[in-house]
Amino acid sequence: MGAGTIRRAMDPCDLLVTNAAEVLTLRGPVPRVGAALDDLGIEPDGAVAIRAGRIVAVGPARSIAARFAPRRTLDAAGGIVLPGFVDAHTHPVFAATREREFDLRLRGKTYQEITAAGGGIFSSVRSLRAASTADLEAGVRRHFERFLDDGTTTIEAKSGYGLNLDDELRSLEILRRVAADHALEVFSTFLGAHQMPEEFKTRRGDYVAFLGEQALPEVKRRGLARACDVFCDDGAFTLDEARAVLTAARDQGFQLRVHADELAQIGASELAAELGAASADHLCKVTPEAIGALARAGTTAVLLPATVLSLGVKAIPPARALIAARVPVAIATDFNPGTSYTTSMPLSIALACCLLRLTVAESIAAATVNAAYSLRLHDRIGRIEPGMQADLVVLARSSHLFLGYELGASRVHAVVKEGRVVRASA
Ligand code: NIG
Ligand code: FE
Repeated sequence: MGAGTIRRAMDPCDLLVTNAAEVLTLRGPVPRVGAALDDLGIEPDGAVAIRAGRIVAVGPARSIAARFAPRRTLDAAGGIVLPGFVDAHTHPVFAATREREFDLRLRGKTYQEITAAGGGIFSSVRSLRAASTADLEAGVRRHFERFLDDGTTTIEAKSGYGLNLDDELRSLEILRRVAADHALEVFSTFLGAHQMPEEFKTRRGDYVAFLGEQALPEVKRRGLARACDVFCDDGAFTLDEARAVLTAARDQGFQLRVHADELAQIGASELAAELGAASADHLCKVTPEAIGALARAGTTAVLLPATVLSLGVKAIPPARALIAARVPVAIATDFNPGTSYTTSMPLSIALACCLLRLTVAESIAAATVNAAYSLRLHDRIGRIEPGMQADLVVLARSSHLFLGYELGASRVHAVVKEGRVVRASA
């Protein structure tokens, strides 16, 4: 081809996201552990080309612009472009908020005292059981809108306020129905072992058997959840009960996730590691020995800084020790009516910096690529690389550092899900 004589035909693409001060590609090893967690694979002055819902190219804006003829252009206006946030721990199916309990905690009551008095999860169970499906569904839809507003494109969503067959199945069915025509992608988790239902208080073993022998098989049969979670802690499920539920779930092909070491150290994270759980979440009180076990098992530590703050607990998850031990670390909102009433991953990222002392880059990697890894969705989401699904968020800030530095601001300029612009500021 003679130099300068024939111009190469431009490749068509559906969407070109351009004029970004930084594109945070997150290219590199998955999961991100140790020092690699701090590497965002930043493309300065970058652009992203998208076709048929997939990323086809990412690179310097000038070379991308020379290669692609887009049907539509999204001007990042000097902001930053990064993978849509992946929120790996949420409880969005509930009927009523619990702001009074928050106030009680500020007045000196502990979460466990409130639970022991019939509040906490018990109160959410009573209200969910009494609620109409239409009302629950409307609430879930509202929460999904908020997640997208905040730049989250995928959530892990748990049941766990039904605690009987009908209401647990109803919760998971609602998640499936709302997700079916919503841009937010949902990974569902069965959390029938969220609390021991009051009606089983004196026959706890029967509820554990019911979960393993009836509930999990029915959830599986209906294809309603990919993972099973247990709240294994003081005032919730004991270690032996958790082991029974999680072993049954593993044998039935569920991925495992564990609420571990949030309120007390009872061996839950060691159990998660032993059973090869995909994630151990909370970890406020995780011991050095358990950190070693999680590292060896490759279990992701999902840290929930908004919950730490809202609960007012003194024990801060030892994030730096987890990273030093090469445990994959993710962060999530824990959105729920009791201990974390926020859908905001930007807030969670900032709190991970301020409270857990992650760098901003580490927090962003924990909120994208590692969160996707914890759900085993990392081959499709969590990075901006050719072949990956085009899930992006554009933030109206000139540097990713603002995500840690600036607390509580809404910076979302646009959100793209599978190549479709689902949020765009005027
Ligand atoms: O992750 N710890 C257990 N589950 C939730 C709280 C649920 C609730 O209080 O409603 C959590 O913090
Ligand atoms: Fe939780």
